[in-house]
Amino acid sequence: MAKNKLIGPFVQLLTMDKLPLMGSLNDSQLEIVPNGGVVVCDGKIVRVGNFDQLYSAYSGRLTIERIDGDMVAMPGMIDPHTHICWAGSRANDYSLRLAGKSYPEIAQSGGGIGDTVLKTRTANSEELEARLTERAIGHLKNGVTTIEVKSGYCLNTAGEIKLLEVIRNVNQKLPVDLIATCLAAHIKPADFNGSPADYLESIVKELLPEIKNRGLSKRIDIFIDKGAFTPEEARPYLIQAKQMGFDLVIHGEQFTTGGVALSCELGAISVDHLEAIQDQEIKLLAASNVIPVALPGASLGLGCQFAPARKLLDAGCSLAIGSDWNPGSAPMGDLLMQTAILGIFEKMTMAESLAAITFRAAAALGLTDRGVLRIGLLADMIGFPTSDYREILYNQGSLKPSMIWKRGGIL
Ligand code: NIG
Ligand code: FE
Repeated sequence: MAKNKLIGPFVQLLTMDKLPLMGSLNDSQLEIVPNGGVVVCDGKIVRVGNFDQLYSAYSGRLTIERIDGDMVAMPGMIDPHTHICWAGSRANDYSLRLAGKSYPEIAQSGGGIGDTVLKTRTANSEELEARLTERAIGHLKNGVTTIEVKSGYCLNTAGEIKLLEVIRNVNQKLPVDLIATCLAAHIKPADFNGSPADYLESIVKELLPEIKNRGLSKRIDIFIDKGAFTPEEARPYLIQAKQMGFDLVIHGEQFTTGGVALSCELGAISVDHLEAIQDQEIKLLAASNVIPVALPGASLGLGCQFAPARKLLDAGCSLAIGSDWNPGSAPMGDLLMQTAILGIFEKMTMAESLAAITFRAAAALGLTDRGVLRIGLLADMIGFPTSDYREILYNQGSLKPSMIWKRGGIL
């Protein structure tokens, strides 16, 4: 029989438990266990509570992983939106943006997503595995214990399968969980002969069955915006993918409206970006089960406005935050720093910010087994070297976790 392990004591144990999925949150709603401990067994949480009481309850029938010095523990962070499987660099795009060129202008003149597609198509699987591994380990070291990773930089059947297999291989090798999403509907690739609708139809016919057969992903994403796909083009694609059993995710309202309404109409799990969302769409979201995901890293990478997080929360919506880490719009890849920055600009409470990168991010991935320190859930946990949880966001991302546990194992 596997042995119980007691981890602690933590000056504060921030469980993120007993909080609603939707709407605004006050810091006073946070459950903070002083002198906390967590008992783990077989990768899961068995008990959460006062360290000394847990110790005596088990009267020594467990191993102890003792924490020396001040430490605040919370659930491992969850990044519900990344594109970290790519080759090449878009430093040139960035220099053009600094010189005043817009994201669509750069894409039309040979940069943008199309440029990364050319480089990612020619990279072999070993090279892509190495790049993805580097980035995933970087995220894990910063306390992100679950990372969603999209394909979408090959945009043909063989290439998208290559990317999803790379994601699967790296997931098997690293302790961090990678959740794969097929984003073959990122843009219509320059070498595809036919309309955007024809391209989407070819994905449904050729790629999605292959992904299902190989068990490579359960989620599909589409970029609905100027320069990508219209809602009218996206609708039949999403309906067919849903009928095949895929969960739907939408890149919506980054520059123009349309993605949010469709995500509500079709019951997507999440709709991500939302920098350009309007009041009418906020109402739709608040009346739906779709999780809005803000991507402050994309606002920072493009130098444009943030998603209206405060308005969304006040309207009663949930709100998750993703890094959107990618070579173009969001090269930074620091989820905690971006969360702190969005928080101070949008006036999000600490509870709302921390919820957005834990259990609300889990919901954006359709995961119910993580994001909260609660009995029966995964023992994914991070510890910050401080005695006050407020230091985490106050330091705006410069205070990093010094201890990370994945499925109860210390890394
Ligand atoms: O989420 N907006 C669409 N796709 C990505 C950017 C990808 C890229 O620029 O390479 C995003 O911002
Ligand atoms: Fe994205």
